[in-house]
This record gives sequence, structure tokens and C-alpha cells, in this order.
Amino acid sequence: MAKQEDDFKKVISHAKEYGYVFQSSEIYDGLSAVYDYAQNGAELKKNIREYWWKAMVNLNENIVGIDAAIFMHPTTWKASGHVDAFNDPLIDNKDSKKRYRADVLIEDYVAKIEAKIEKEVAKASKRFGDTFDKKQFLATNQRVVDYQEKADAILKRMGKSLENEDLADVKSLIEELDIACPMSGSKNWTDVKQFNLMFGTKLGASAESAMDLYLRPETAQGIFVNFLNVQKTGRMKIPFGIAQTGKAFRNEIVARQFIFRMREFEQMEMQFFIRPGTQKEWYEKWKENRLKWHLSLGLGEENYRFHDHDKLAHYADAAADIEFRFPFGFKELEGIHSRTDFDLSQHEKFSGKKLQYFDPELKESYVPYVVETSIGLDRMFLAVFSNSLQEEELENNTTRTVLKLPAVLAPTKAAVLPLVKKDGLPDVAHKIIEDLKWDFNVIYDEKDAVGRRYRRQDAAGTPFCITVDHQSLEDQTVTIRHRDTMEQHRVAISEVKSIIHKEVDMRSWLQRMG
Ligand code: GAP
Repeated sequence: MAKQEDDFKKVISHAKEYGYVFQSSEIYDGLSAVYDYAQNGAELKKNIREYWWKAMVNLNENIVGIDAAIFMHPTTWKASGHVDAFNDPLIDNKDSKKRYRADVLIEDYVAKIEAKIEKEVAKASKRFGDTFDKKQFLATNQRVVDYQEKADAILKRMGKSLENEDLADVKSLIEELDIACPMSGSKNWTDVKQFNLMFGTKLGASAESAMDLYLRPETAQGIFVNFLNVQKTGRMKIPFGIAQTGKAFRNEIVARQFIFRMREFEQMEMQFFIRPGTQKEWYEKWKENRLKWHLSLGLGEENYRFHDHDKLAHYADAAADIEFRFPFGFKELEGIHSRTDFDLSQHEKFSGKKLQYFDPELKESYVPYVVETSIGLDRMFLAVFSNSLQEEELENNTTRTVLKLPAVLAPTKAAVLPLVKKDGLPDVAHKIIEDLKWDFNVIYDEKDAVGRRYRRQDAAGTPFCITVDHQSLEDQTVTIRHRDTMEQHRVAISEVKSIIHKEVDMRSWLQRMG
């Protein structure tokens, strides 16, 4: 645990030091669970968004993208169920006065059991070497089987109690498991209460006429209310999808995991409208497709897993998370939800307008079913950033800090460095930048010895350094250094663009999805 915390602290301080993420309003001591993206962070975030948009919208003929407003008519949230059911169960510790999500306390307890399973697996894998069969070990090792049964039973009971609104049983479970306040060790708990996560605000100039609004807690509803407009104006035929990216807001009870759980965050969501009865098939297809998208970035297959929900949201008939191994363990990165016809039917009921599709093949009208994919952009940022941050032991017994971001997502693709600040080398470097900047985000750096500049770019995540030296003046060549291997090659200046292009081109990265 101490190592995990240490690693996570390194991620947070690196994000600040290299201009990725700052605490919001830092000069006023910050605002809890709100963050600003700095010069490099804004580029990385934009690149992740583009990578998603390309894969979801541009590469699918039957998916279009929209950009709906954050403010929506307040009845939207009554219809969607968020006013009544978008709650988290909270519990306070009477001694430390700290507030927690009751379900997160229980999930953290289960995560500790899962960590024990992983430890057993690691031990056995070391013992058996190449002959180790993980699947068989998980199914037959009695200690591991007991751990797994215990974890499953706890989650099942919690899911059932939450579904039945049996908050007294959630508290009993916390007490039976002997869960203590992580801050104080006290087990003196209040009852569990429900807490609505939506932020309220007002629209209108005078207090009497102002209308109560909510800041949207998910972008999905902007898609549902536009379903028919898009279908008609785009002449879309089922099955088809509507995607969008944008801000969402939740008054999270516990928000102390950096950009993992924020009060203002960004989602990338897609609602896929289908014939009733086909939801199982599409749910499985989208689970597979979304996992492939993640794997295309090369962050390591072992860092992802599916988690099927025991506790279903009020709108879903099936749901799974794609979990990622964050520095603090496996946690939800993306959700795939089979939302039935819940949302469209509810909007029909509350608006009095028909939200149906006439299926020309079946020659009948129906309210479509929906399979949704929903990923947090900030969580994706944290997944990519934390996975990429590495400390490497070098042959000369030194270490280097390197941010091995997938080149396609890196904020700056290349730094152009004149070896010295004189003899006309800066002019050649600027000329190279003038050409490259039309295709890639590139920077110029002339400060410090070239070795230090390389290290600075390694830590900032820049995949290429292009160095202009005296030979460049004679033969129009430069050296190009690769961040990950630190290898350097001498190449013609005229080749630089195509070398970078080959490594950062979105097409070749996304084609890995197959
Ligand atoms: N429309 C469905 C929906 O909103 P969700 O599971 O509540 O589903 C989807 O959220 C994704 O949004 C999550 O998988 C996560 O990546 C991201 N997300 C949710 N709450 C977040 C928060 N407070 N901070 C950052 N990301 C969040």
C-alpha cells in the first residue's frame, strides 16, 4: 500500500512539474476535487478526445457526433430518474467527522481481498515458472477460492441491499466486516443516508422568476432529447449511434483521488439505438469494440479487466465496467450499459412527444433500445499518464524519468534543439520548426547542455528530439533521437517529417483495433 501511495504521489507531482495538471485556483489554496489542465495537459486531453472521436464517429458510418448544451430543461432530470435516484449512500464517522461513501468503504475492503489473491498468484507463478496455469490455479487453490467466494458474497449482498434501498443492511455489513475509518481507525459510524449528487443552479434575472436548473450529471441526456432531431435530419437508420464529448458535474461525496473522481469532469459518451430484443448482441459487440480501442494504445493487456455489475443503475438491464490498473489498484475507467428503452420512454412520458422510430423493414414504429458506452476523459488521461510514467535504470548506474506516452497522444511530437546557441544553428532549427509546425505540435529548446534537454523532453513525454549541429550546416542532416530507446540516427532534414508522421499517425494506431 505504501508503495502504491508513493507511486501515486509521484504521478501527481510529475503532472504539476511538467505542466499537465494544476490544482484549480491554487493561489486560493485550491478547490476540492477540481483541477485545471495546463499547457501539456490540454494537448494530451485534446489528443485523447480526438482519438476517441475518430474511432467512434469518423470511422463508423452509422455514428454521428453532436455537442449539446450543459443546461437542460429541468424536467429532463425528473424523467431520467436523476432527481429521485442519482444518489450515493454516505456514512459519517462520529469520531473523525470524516464522510465516506458506504459502498466505497466496502469495495475497498474487497479490493484488499483481491490484492491477497494477486499475491498468491504472483507467489505461485514464481514457484511454477513456465508451467504455471493461472486459470487452473484460480479455480483449484483452496485459499484463493475461499478469498474469491468471500469477495463475491460481500459484493452480492451490498448490491442487493443498495438495490432494495436497505441502508440499514449496508451499515450492518460495514460493522460485520469490522471496517474502520481509514483516517482514525474508529468504528463509530452514523447510519447510512442517501445523498443526491446533482449540482443545482438558477436560470433567470430575478429571484421570483428564476428557474431551478441542474448542471448535467451525464452528457447522455443531451443525446436522448435530440434523438429524433438527429435521426430525422441525418436520415439515420437503426442501428445507429449518437456520440458527444463534454463536461458533466457531480457533487461527489469522496473526491480525493486527484483527477480520478472530480466534481467537474468530461465524458465521452455514445448512445447506440437498436431494435428491441437485439440488446444482448450489441452489448457484447460494444464491450469487445471498446476493449480493442483501449488495447490499441499499447498500455498492456494485463492492465485491463471487465467487471460485470451486481448493482445495476436505475436505467440498465446489463452493465459492465472496463477497469484499469491505476496506481491505486483496478478501478472503473469506462462503462458499457444496456439502457433498454428506459430513457426514451421516460422522455416520451414527461414531454408528451413521441420519440419513436419507424422501422421500414419491420414496417412498424417502436421506441428503440439503447446500448451506451461511457468513458471519463479525465480518467483516461490518468490511465495513460500514470501508466506512461517510468523510472529507468540506465547502464551507467543513473536513472532517468521518462513519460512513455503513446506517441499518437503525446502533447508535443518533437523538440528541435540547436546544439549551441550560435554559428547559425538556431536559424536552421527555427526553419525546421516553421515546416513541421503545420503538421505537428513541436517546440524549440536551446537552454542547457543537450543531454539535460534530452532528459527534460523524456520527462515531458516528447517522442522525438531533433538536434541541429555543425554538420547540419554542411550536409542538411540532423540527428533524430527516439525517447523510448534513446537511439539516435542521422537523417536528412527532408526526411524528418515522414519519420515522425509514421510514428504518430492516428491511422496506424487505430488500425491495431483490427
Ligand atoms: N451516462 C452513463 C454514466 O454517466 P457513469 O458510470 O456514472 O455512467 C461514466 O460514468 C464514466 O464517467 C465513468 O466510467 C468514469 O470514467 C467517468 N466518471 C464518472 N464520474 C466521474 C467523476 N466524478 N470524475 C471523473 N470521471 C468520472
